[in-house]
Amino acid sequence: MRRVEPYANLAGSVRVPGDKSASHRAVMLSALASGTSTIEGLSPGLDVVASSHIMIQLGATRHDDGTTVIITGPAQGHRASHQPLRCANSGTTIRLVSGIGSSLEGHHRLVGDSSLSRRPMDRVAVPLGLMGSKVTGEGIRVTPPLDIVGSSHLNGIDYHVPTSSAQVKSAILLAGLHATGASTVHEALRTRTTTEDMLRLAGVTIQSEDVDVGRRVTLSPGRPSARAWTVPADPSQAAFFCVLGLLHSHADVEVVDVENSPERIGFVHVLERMGADLVQRPGASGVTLRARSSSLQATEIHAGEIPSVDEAPILTVAAAAAQGVSAFRDMGELRLKESDRFEGSMALARLLGCNVWSEGDDFFVEGLGSAAAFLPFAIHASLDHRIVMSSAVAGAAGQGCDIDGSDTVSSSYPGFFDDLASLR
Ligand code: S3P
Repeated sequence: MRRVEPYANLAGSVRVPGDKSASHRAVMLSALASGTSTIEGLSPGLDVVASSHIMIQLGATRHDDGTTVIITGPAQGHRASHQPLRCANSGTTIRLVSGIGSSLEGHHRLVGDSSLSRRPMDRVAVPLGLMGSKVTGEGIRVTPPLDIVGSSHLNGIDYHVPTSSAQVKSAILLAGLHATGASTVHEALRTRTTTEDMLRLAGVTIQSEDVDVGRRVTLSPGRPSARAWTVPADPSQAAFFCVLGLLHSHADVEVVDVENSPERIGFVHVLERMGADLVQRPGASGVTLRARSSSLQATEIHAGEIPSVDEAPILTVAAAAAQGVSAFRDMGELRLKESDRFEGSMALARLLGCNVWSEGDDFFVEGLGSAAAFLPFAIHASLDHRIVMSSAVAGAAGQGCDIDGSDTVSSSYPGFFDDLASLR
């Protein structure tokens, strides 16, 4: 059980870890390339460690030289591992490695922790199956452990992703690297572009075209080239410190070098709309976000504004401190994250003292008008790093909290509690 005391005042500057999404891809693309790549700013989270171990199992080598990670792809080609590929708590690892394994001849067994073992993998099993691999798991939703029979003769695919997902898009594109013919992924809502952007930087031919509110991405097969990667700071982690700075009544907090791309920074626009004193200052390595104590107003948030909905739990905490009723619309995907974040976000707001209700895939939070009105609370984290960090922010800005299972922050942000303490 970890105790978070309320903070008397908050000031300082934080650099959150390297973006988790870019870190997974930097490791995977480096390992898939022929030659040696370097990575600066890699996320130290255990999710990325899991991806790195797996790529080593498949034939890459890694060594760390101070802050630089050096990865060499196997000149003689990748090979299936006789050992299970351990994906730990990481949905990105299991879904992207499903794509990589699908195009690699042999049998791959992918396993995860109890949280990952309840998450649906049919969303990757179906398109990868259409490409010519065989991905099987438990039950109709194909939950892990997964067994994949990879094939070096995959076909390209033209696929409309039923529920827009960066992980599904990425699994298809990574499998498509070794397919015969091009692969096209259509998404109805634009998800983060990390995979396309990084594949392009690695010399792979890939076109991306915005269509209405969605996007069409077409990849031609090819092997990524080795290169030097620099990973910017993770916007979804920055969101925790931004909300902390806004909610606390005596706060001035800066988060530096944050990746600034439209699909990642939607939470900033939501908070601005709520009346936040949140200033963006562009810099050479991303944007600096400065958050100062603010009085927030309720708003309506649609899932499409924060694609992948990673920021929904912390925005729920912001809504709990706002004046009025906030609506979170079309948030069904929250149920399928590391824990059921639909119920988890509502439960957190309820613990803070809010009136909360849901209708279908929407939920509503009647704010208390200020974090000073939050109740002290205790919560169980259910192997979900974002629930831990959202709870800690609510406790530090409000009346304190006790978090059971807080160690699960290590999956994405091992130094979170140290960085939080540094602002005291
Ligand atoms: C991620 C995609 C996500 C997101 C996760 C990271 C990625 O979800 O929740 O934290 O790196 O591709 P979707 O696949 O639902 O977009």
